[in-house]
Amino acid sequence: MKRVLLTLVLSTACKSAPQAAMLVAGSDVAGATVPANEPSAAVIRSLAPPEPGTPEIAEGFELFVHQCATCHSIDGHGGKAGPELNAPHSVTEYWQPQSLHQWLDNPQSIRKGAAGCGIPARISQRQRAIDNVIAYLKAMTHGP
Ligand code: HEC
Repeated sequence: MKRVLLTLVLSTACKSAPQAAMLVAGSDVAGATVPANEPSAAVIRSLAPPEPGTPEIAEGFELFVHQCATCHSIDGHGGKAGPELNAPHSVTEYWQPQSLHQWLDNPQSIRKGAAGCGIPARISQRQRAIDNVIAYLKAMTHGP
């Protein structure tokens, strides 16, 4: 199961936001050659959810790898531009579920000036994408 999941993620074409890559790479808007900055295979392995998963968690994992891990880490694995989301506690434990959902849809509707975060506008089936990424984050929690 895990192997299938990883193959799925690794074989998916790069979809990360060019803007995010630029932010992380610290280059200017004119720098059209900025690399996509996808997480390495080792980081993706570390981000894999525990088994047994669900299709929702698997989709959320894929989304997280491509849309979030550039900036955020889970237990230290991932990017550093945004806050760690799972250690010592998961954002799904200390954020109100409704607010977390709203943040991922539109961060600035929660906190003025919040930029570059959330589900990118080009992602289709947004509500489902948000629910799936939250399902993934919940699956990664350490429990009480
Ligand atoms: C371009 C970098 C970037 C990307 C990509 C990104 N974020 Fe963020 N995220 C941030 C930054 C920076 C903050 C802190 C913003 C602030 O405090 O105003 C943040 C804040 C958050 C928070 C609030 C954390 C807290 O406790 O304050 C959550 C939850 C979050 N991001 C989840 C995600 C998820 C899930 C994704 C993928 C769908 C994602 N982010 C994509 C940069 C990013």
